[in-house]
Amino acid sequence: MLKLPVMPDSKVIVVSGGASGIGSEVSSRLATEGAYVVIADLNAAQAEAKAAAIVEAGGQAIGVACDITNPELCEAAAQAAVDKYGRIDGLVNCAGISKPHDSISLPPTDWARMVDVQLNGAFYFAQACTKRMFDTGGAIVFITSTNAEAAFPRRAAYCCAKAGVAMLTKVLAIEWAEKGIRVNAVGPAYVATEMTQRNIAAGNVNEGQIKARIPLGRLAQPADVADAVSFLLSDKSSFITGHSLYVDGGWLAYGYF
Ligand SMILES: NC(=O)c1ccc[n+]([C@@H]2O[C@H](COP(=O)([O-])OP(=O)(O)OC[C@H]3O[C@@H](n4cnc5c(N)ncnc54)[C@H](O)[C@@H]3O)[C@@H](O)[C@H]2O)c1
Repeated sequence: MLKLPVMPDSKVIVVSGGASGIGSEVSSRLATEGAYVVIADLNAAQAEAKAAAIVEAGGQAIGVACDITNPELCEAAAQAAVDKYGRIDGLVNCAGISKPHDSISLPPTDWARMVDVQLNGAFYFAQACTKRMFDTGGAIVFITSTNAEAAFPRRAAYCCAKAGVAMLTKVLAIEWAEKGIRVNAVGPAYVATEMTQRNIAAGNVNEGQIKARIPLGRLAQPADVADAVSFLLSDKSSFITGHSLYVDGGWLAYGYF
């Protein structure tokens, strides 16, 4: 792979799940801000198409195939970033799945897959990327969810995995602080993405009920999440680590009827 010199002020950021939804928006935003973006996604074709669109728009990006549940593939994706751009300065873990199911009949394989993608994968991906910024410092942002704090029925594995990532955020933050690596999480409430559209179409959520439950009265836009991610990757948050920032329109604060 041809190595590309990175401009001194630019950062190299690896985004898992960057081919779609929140990750796609985050990738575009970071590229617009001057980052060199490595889009690591299960859907290799969509990752490459997204990277091509960023390049077409004047940014810098590559797409790489990665299943974050496979530590070797996480290593390969992180190494592809170094091979192309020479280093890694940060990562955003957006890859995720959603599959609500009654707990009483949830197949163990579904439980295991959810925990594997949302929690194990977050750790494997962070570990692989951080190995390559351990001597230089950097910033990590995990995308969690309000479900790291708030229990929803039929989402046992999802809620537990996201709560696990919120704790992982704290553990890695204190463990890697001495290396100059900050670790934070962004937890959205419902975001207007394909994942949410699929859940609405499947009858798992009711859009009207969601809006009524959110004090600011609307779903989050992917750009709202990208704003928070951009902040937590930037030097404007240089003394913030181990923190979960909820982009939820007031969902978690709301305790009334
Ligand atoms: N959409 C919401 O309302 C919402 C709310 C809170 C949290 N989240 C979280 O935000 C993240 C992104 O959600 P989204 O709405 O953008 O979903 P999405 O389905 O639009 O995008 C998810 C991306 O992750 C990729 N992916 C899935 N499994 C992967 C794996 N094993 N390895 C690598 N890539 C994988 C998919 O190919 C896809 O490109 C998820 O972690 C989700 O749990 C979403």
